[in-house]
Amino acid sequence: MIFFERQNGQLRKLLLIGISALVTFLVACQGSGAASNSGRAPLVLSTVPPLPVLDEGEIAAGQQIYTDYCAECHGADLQGEADWKIQNEDGSFRAPPHDAGGHTWHHSDAVLLEVIRLGGARLTEDVGGTSNMPAYGEILSEAQIQAVLTYIKSTWPEEARQVQWEQTARSQP
Ligand code: HEC
Repeated sequence: MIFFERQNGQLRKLLLIGISALVTFLVACQGSGAASNSGRAPLVLSTVPPLPVLDEGEIAAGQQIYTDYCAECHGADLQGEADWKIQNEDGSFRAPPHDAGGHTWHHSDAVLLEVIRLGGARLTEDVGGTSNMPAYGEILSEAQIQAVLTYIKSTWPEEARQVQWEQTARSQP
């Protein structure tokens, strides 16, 4: 009987230690969650490398290319064509904005580079419209295509850049 009570006491002690460890763990978890509660960052930071710093020289080169080749359709301030969500009467799409008001920043680098290289020719019939965007893979060098994308990225607010970077990092093999 005495033996049993001793056992029982030890069990209770172990149980208490277990519970307090669990409570400490839960409190610690909650604490770290609250401390880094700035959006979706905490989970993502462990899997996605930090946002790369854009090269100033590449931004400047890209801005010039943008002005020369893209602004006439996508707008000098990257604002896109007026009523860009509406299709033209001939069924062609209007050029969307490249600022944070558009959806360029929703796509990974791989997707965007492909759009710039192939232009409207890449669109299949089932997308419900056409695009007269030229295929810049035949007009610009690969470095120029990269630079113009870098320039576009440099105009986005940090949050949009982070989202686009996550898309890019995840889509890399
Ligand atoms: C003649 C007009 C025209 C020119 C010039 C043009 N684009 Fe476009 N662009 C479009 C149209 C229309 C679309 C929407 C249809 C499509 O996706 O092809 C588009 C779409 C895009 C998209 C996809 C955006 C998204 O959110 O899906 C990117 C990226 C893009 N253009 C980049 C460029 C860049 C960079 C240049 C200059 C090097 C450029 N475009 C020049 C008309 C143009």
